[in-house]
Amino acid sequence: MAVNLSGRNFLKLLDFTPDEIRYLIDLSAELKAKKKAGELHKYLEGKNIVLLFEKTSTRTRCSFEVAGHDLGMGVTYLDPKSSQMGKKESIEDTARVLGRMFDGIEYRGYAQEIVEELAEKSGVVVWNGLTTEFHPTQMIADMLTVREKFPEGIEGKKLVFMGDAQNNVANSLMVVCAKLGLNFVACGPKEQMPVAELVETCKAIAAETGGSVTLTESVEEGCKDADIIYTDIWVSMGEPYEIWGERIRLLSPYQVNAQVMSYAKPTAIFMHCLPSYHDTNTTTGAEVAEQFGLTELEVTDEVFEGPQSVVFDEAENRMHSIKAIMYATLKQPE
Ligand code: CP
Ligand code: NVA
Repeated sequence: MAVNLSGRNFLKLLDFTPDEIRYLIDLSAELKAKKKAGELHKYLEGKNIVLLFEKTSTRTRCSFEVAGHDLGMGVTYLDPKSSQMGKKESIEDTARVLGRMFDGIEYRGYAQEIVEELAEKSGVVVWNGLTTEFHPTQMIADMLTVREKFPEGIEGKKLVFMGDAQNNVANSLMVVCAKLGLNFVACGPKEQMPVAELVETCKAIAAETGGSVTLTESVEEGCKDADIIYTDIWVSMGEPYEIWGERIRLLSPYQVNAQVMSYAKPTAIFMHCLPSYHDTNTTTGAEVAEQFGLTELEVTDEVFEGPQSVVFDEAENRMHSIKAIMYATLKQPE
C-alpha cells in the first residue's frame, strides 16, 4: 500500500513503520535533487507554520525556515523571550491559540510529553524539533546521509554511538537503526546507557527487521569493523554546566579519536549531529578547556576535520529532510 502521511504528527520514530521512514528518506532525496536542479517546489503555498523554540538552535531553525519558504509557506519564529509561552501562558493554551492560526507547529524544548500535549491540544500537525528524549528529524537527515555514503544499501551496516548513549540523539539513533535493520551499538559507560525499557523495545523491533541492538563499555569491541562512528556533545541543552566535571570523567575514554577510527572499517564514516566541541573556538569549549584542561571533547579536531567526516553533508541534509517531513504531513491526501 502506498505510504500516506498527510495529517500525521512527527513526534518520535517509534510511531512510524520502516516503510514510512524509508518513504521520508526517499522524499528527502527527491526534494534535494529538485533544489540542486533549481526546480521550484512551492507545493504548500498558502499554508503557514510556527516554530516554537524553548532551546537554542542553528540547523533545526534554519532548516524549518528555509524549507518552509522553499515550499511556499509563511513561517513565524517564536521563543520564550519574545512570546507569552511558558511564563504567562501554558503550553496547552499556547497550542490552542496557535492551532487556530497555523497549519503546522514545530516544537523544540524539554519533555517529550510537552510535544505530545501540543499535538493533542492544537489540532494541527506538530513536528518534534528536539526534546530531552528524542530528536527524530535529525534521524531522517542522518539516514539520508548514510544512504548517500553507502549506496549499496544501509541494512546490516554497523553504527556505533560513542559517549552519552542515553541522550536524545542516541535514543533516536537506536530507534531508527532498529526500524531500518542496522546494527546499533551504544558504546559508553554504564552510567550513561539508554534506559532499559527503550532498549527492550528497540531489540524487539530489530528482531523483526534483521537489525540488532548492543550495549558495550568496551571501545575496541564496540567500534570493531564499524561502518559508522557517531558521537554527540557530552552535556546536552537543559543540563547544568556543573555536570561537565562528572561527564568528562565518565566520557573521556569514549572520545572519538584516530585510535577509535582505526578499530572501524577503513571505509567507515564519522558522523555528528552538531554543534560540536572539537576545539576551543566556542565560549563553552574555552571555559571547559580552562577549567578541566581538555581542548577537544567528544571528538578530536583531527577526526572532525578528517577525510572520514561527513558532518557538513549531514547538516545540509537537515534542510532537505525537514522539507520532506513537512511536505509529507501537510500535503493534501491523494
Ligand atoms: N543538530 C541540531 O539539531 O542542531 P541545532 O541545535 O543547531 O538545531
Ligand atoms: N544532545 C544534544 C543535541 C543537539 C542537537 C542536545 O540536546 O543538546
